Amino acid sequence: MLMEAQTSWETRTQPVVVAPGDPLAVESNAFDLIRFGVCVVNTGMSPQMLSEQMKIVRKSFPEYKEEFKAKIGTIGEERMVLGGFGALANPSSFHHPFVRYLRRQAKTIVATLAAASFPTQKIRSGLYMQELFDRIGVRKKDFGTISAEAWHRDVYNGANRRDDDIILGGWINCDVEYIQKFNCILATNRTNVFKNTEHETLHRELYDQELMDTIDLVDEGGFALLQNATMIAKLMQKRRSIEVPPGHMVVFFQDILHEVVSTKQPDLPTVRLYTGHCFRTVDEPLIDYTDAIAKQGVPPLPSGQMPPLFSTNHYQWFKKPGYYRDWDPFVPEIPRIVDKYSGHIPVLKDVGERVMYSLEEYGLQKYVDYTADDVAVVSMEPFGVAINREFQPWVPHGDVEMAG
Ligand SMILES: [Fe+2]
Repeated sequence: MLMEAQTSWETRTQPVVVAPGDPLAVESNAFDLIRFGVCVVNTGMSPQMLSEQMKIVRKSFPEYKEEFKAKIGTIGEERMVLGGFGALANPSSFHHPFVRYLRRQAKTIVATLAAASFPTQKIRSGLYMQELFDRIGVRKKDFGTISAEAWHRDVYNGANRRDDDIILGGWINCDVEYIQKFNCILATNRTNVFKNTEHETLHRELYDQELMDTIDLVDEGGFALLQNATMIAKLMQKRRSIEVPPGHMVVFFQDILHEVVSTKQPDLPTVRLYTGHCFRTVDEPLIDYTDAIAKQGVPPLPSGQMPPLFSTNHYQWFKKPGYYRDWDPFVPEIPRIVDKYSGHIPVLKDVGERVMYSLEEYGLQKYVDYTADDVAVVSMEPFGVAINREFQPWVPHGDVEMAG
């Protein structure tokens, strides 16, 4: 049975969305991750539940005014952050108990995927796994166009990086109907966890060493500078726009070549939770979240950078009368710089990186404290612990979502 199924998998030209209830779902996703460097996993969570809870999450943010939050989830929803990319940057968006729950789910799902795809020797070498904090993304037609990003790799550039770290990225589609898309070039991940292992043959089928060497040579100047027409044609053959249906999670090696395409967004807000998963052979965390958890502050992203509330080119818009000058969604507890040049920019903890302070520092109501398991999820814990976490259905906390 397994052999027969795998024979048909070998004809795949890109990752496949597995039918619900398929007993070979994990093996199928693992096959895609090894062969293509990317796969699409059914999380088993209902799109309706995800979408409803993500509205509740956004409506709970203490940083934003009530009248501003009243339109959340409707066609009139307003932007909580500036820039078409729409990834939230307020501290509460990282700490709501439902977002912690989604990280826990993601860790369990990706641990299962890793157990089925990573080489046996890697898993036996004393592997650890940390789920990384990442942002909620909200896009909508009238939030402005996303500036198209050229082909690039997401690479963690923090001080704590080890050569044998494996970092997977991705997101969970939290919409009811909208199919989100990941544009990438198959099998262009540099992470070479499959070299000299039982999965090398499958991994090597699409992996093109000459092509990869050429890309590496031009990487500093950007992929756009690749001049060799043959190489460009080879790359474009493997270019795919991968569909991520509601309730599904896309998982890929962080360094696979991908692009952000400036596509038309739907009228209604489309919501996702970006995810990051780090595997390494020592128990030292890739990113230490102790302070972010204690104060419920803004954590570093899986790239090592801090999430900005707006981009540097918004400063020129703040200087002119109009939408950006008047953009003021925050409650009065958040101090603002208000002068004739800056509009209503909140006072930022890191002005250079345009990062907000923590809930504690703003004196805003924090969410309920992290449980020991909440902390363990975002810590570097033994792989054996990560994979054995039991599934839990989401149980809304109601009032206890707020601390105090
Ligand atoms: Fe990226």
